[in-house]
Amino acid sequence: MQARGPLMIEHRLIERMLALIRRKLSEIKASNAVDPLFIDTAVDFIRTYADRTHHGKEEDILFRDLEAWNLSDADRRVMNELVEEHVFARMTTQELVEANTRYRNGEASALGIIAVKLETLVDFYPRHIEKEDKVFFPAARGYFTDDEDEAMLAEFREFDREMIHEKYKAVVAGLESL
Ligand SMILES: [Fe+2]
Ligand SMILES: [Fe+2]
Repeated sequence: MQARGPLMIEHRLIERMLALIRRKLSEIKASNAVDPLFIDTAVDFIRTYADRTHHGKEEDILFRDLEAWNLSDADRRVMNELVEEHVFARMTTQELVEANTRYRNGEASALGIIAVKLETLVDFYPRHIEKEDKVFFPAARGYFTDDEDEAMLAEFREFDREMIHEKYKAVVAGLESL
């Protein structure tokens, strides 16, 4: 498998979560209510899987390696856009968390914000994924030899292996701080 293989497989799981969020959005509009636990679960998926695990491999390994190369202006521009989009997703998720806390505490008006933030995520993410799958990953592959690509794949695997430990250390630390 090429290094971009796991990243593209992860995109497919993110798309399945986006489909669930899209379905939930219709329910929110029909019922004028949301189960805050659904938002908690979606946020955990976005933060732990889409951001820390997936964007983590993109930014900390792939983009880091590409930084070392003389990227074409066009490729560098796309890479900068992708990084900005990751920041945007993080901010939107944070705003979703804040709205969900307000909603859970009885502020019914926060439901509108929850819906807008979910809509933002389901609208933005597929375009981000398409840009990576169809434009950036193929262009990026051209900068690496087969050996370098294989080394990156091995580093991706090591990164993933660490993730489960990082996640549950954070869970225990969070509970300890209560
Ligand atoms: Fe990305
Ligand atoms: Fe991605």
